Amino acid sequence: MKNIAIFASGNGSNFQAIVDAIEGGKLHANLKLLVCDKPGAFVIERAKKADVPVYSFNPKQFASKTAFEEAIYEQLKKCDVDYIVLAGYMRLIGAFLLEKYPGRIINIHPSLLPAFPGKDAIAQAVSAGVKVTGVTIHFVDEGMDTGPIIAQRAVEIADGETEEEVAEKIHAIEHVFYPETLENLLNEKCWKVLES
Ligand code: GRF
Repeated sequence: MKNIAIFASGNGSNFQAIVDAIEGGKLHANLKLLVCDKPGAFVIERAKKADVPVYSFNPKQFASKTAFEEAIYEQLKKCDVDYIVLAGYMRLIGAFLLEKYPGRIINIHPSLLPAFPGKDAIAQAVSAGVKVTGVTIHFVDEGMDTGPIIAQRAVEIADGETEEEVAEKIHAIEHVFYPETLENLLNEKCWKVLES
């Protein structure tokens, strides 16, 4: 089984969905570590409750992104992490970690990329008036939500639906779709699709 670390900055509902999928036998992976760049984030409470070790840090206490990524890497090495799973980690991964984990950093984004990258993707979709948005799971590269796409799910936006309503639908899909896609990816059930 592959060892994973989740990187998150906030609420951590996707972190929780992955924990639950592992506990429920739907995702075969060892969740070794939560990495969190916001020491007060609720995801840390979730990790403690689930007995997942936490490495939290304040980026401002480091001289540079490379410096804090080096510190993260020390922790990842200790746990023998194979894959980094981003779940609401609100910063770009830098060159240091990209080089250490080539093709082994995965992100989930609440839109059908390449539409609406970056922050507030759900609000962007609602204010653009699109009728379909969705969720994208992709490999991470140096850009903002630009890496190769692994899988996508569409979500319809009905007339008059608010950002909150659309967010609720998107999160419900994410919580099933992320563990499912990770199971396929980590347990090599979709390499053929990726290679073709
Ligand atoms: C999710 O919508 C995810 O797609 C995006 O950040 C959000 C994180 O939510 N990258 P949560 O912290 O998992 O609840």
